[in-house]
Amino acid sequence: MDVIIQTTAARAEWLAAALIAKALLTKPHLVLGLATGRTMEGVYGHLARLHREQALDFSRCRTFNLDEYIGLGSGHPGSYRHYMREMLFRHVNLMPENTHLPDGLAVDLSAECEAYEARIRACGGIDLQLLGIGSDGHIGFNEPLSALRSRTREKGLTRATREQNAAMFGGNPEDVPARAITMGVGTILDSRRCLLLAVGADKARILAKAVEGPITSMISASALQLHASCTVIVDEAAAAQLEGAEYYRWILANEPEWAEFR
Ligand code: GLP
Repeated sequence: MDVIIQTTAARAEWLAAALIAKALLTKPHLVLGLATGRTMEGVYGHLARLHREQALDFSRCRTFNLDEYIGLGSGHPGSYRHYMREMLFRHVNLMPENTHLPDGLAVDLSAECEAYEARIRACGGIDLQLLGIGSDGHIGFNEPLSALRSRTREKGLTRATREQNAAMFGGNPEDVPARAITMGVGTILDSRRCLLLAVGADKARILAKAVEGPITSMISASALQLHASCTVIVDEAAAAQLEGAEYYRWILANEPEWAEFR
């Protein structure tokens, strides 16, 4: 795992977008795993600008989102399909048939979960998975005690998660769906590369636990310590409780891999 500390949230978002753009330029038919949440808005803004100003081409890219609320159709403003359409899809030249999210309205939810895994496999697996982190340490909607080998499935959401995401539903946690379909921790770990982005002081405590604490299913993001190619990008505020910050800064300043991003 590499932890890259950027001075500001804006720089952290820019770096995440730059790494995605580089992956897409290297492999135009990239299979890109996408995340939602406020943290990602800046990243998608940068990608849209790169498409507009530098013709970054998404025409052969395939995308798979981490999760979707159960019971919400794509027209619902709180759905992640809606979020993705507004934040990214309508601003770039992704083919609609190449964008995948679990169907939260599926009649047979377990069949939908299996089909989602099959679609990922049929595309050759995820090359690069973008991730945020929830206040309880979840990635996707893998709430505490999610098995580290779990696959795409239904998951009940914690009170903390529904509170964290209430803003998209008019502020009332009760209006946030109680269940979601999410890629499993095992599904995420199968991605060839993971990129976790966390910004802001309210992520500092959980981020330090996930990155430097013991691997535990109580904090699904801690499973990323098992991944052979995981980059964690943070701003100074989110890095505030990292014990190894000095060493992480040295990596960014000295390792050749990061030269173009200093
Ligand atoms: C939701 C998503 C997660 C995301 C998290 C963080 O719970 N399911 O994938 O990481 O929100 O959200 P934010 O970026 O708004 O803090």
